[in-house]
Amino acid sequence: MAELPSDPLQRPLPDGAVPEPVVVRTEEHWVTIMAVMLTAMMVIMVVTSVVGALHPASNVEVIDSRTLHLKGEFVESNLGTALEPDGSVTVRLIAQQYDFVPRCVVVPADTPVKFRLTSDDVVHGFLLPDTNINTMVVPGFVAEVRTRFARPGDYVMPCHEYCGLGHQAMWARVKVVPWDQFAGQGLLERTSCATQ
Ligand code: CUA
Repeated sequence: MAELPSDPLQRPLPDGAVPEPVVVRTEEHWVTIMAVMLTAMMVIMVVTSVVGALHPASNVEVIDSRTLHLKGEFVESNLGTALEPDGSVTVRLIAQQYDFVPRCVVVPADTPVKFRLTSDDVVHGFLLPDTNINTMVVPGFVAEVRTRFARPGDYVMPCHEYCGLGHQAMWARVKVVPWDQFAGQGLLERTSCATQ
């Protein structure tokens, strides 16, 4: 009986090994399946970005996170929902470990809403399910996202960027109310609904 080479790679294939044409055919099938999956995912991405107005947040605006609470747009008295002269609203929020400030904001339905957010510590995320809003909130920058809520209701907004041990408890609320109800609210109720 012939001696087998000691290097296993040099030994002849045992009987029953898969013949080369079968290997080639199987690989071709899997390449085709992967190409179809990749194409389908690309198509889904393009379609959802067009239909759902999803796009990368494009606002580049710097801010000094060390003086956030002392001066400028994000001082405490200026946070929450503000009514603009053109009838739209602007919501200003600070993300911090482990809360959004204010925790709850009221906005009117069927009205252009602009969210402006910044962080005073680490990177957080801001996501409103069932809307096109999804942005990172990076210290030193102002994130700006716009939307319009079609229906009244409560939207919970989770922080979706791991920001520390309390990350999973970092939630806030957007309360969408009919325009009449919004207009009838006092400034304080409108600014924050955290205590309601
Ligand atoms: Cu803030 Cu996770």
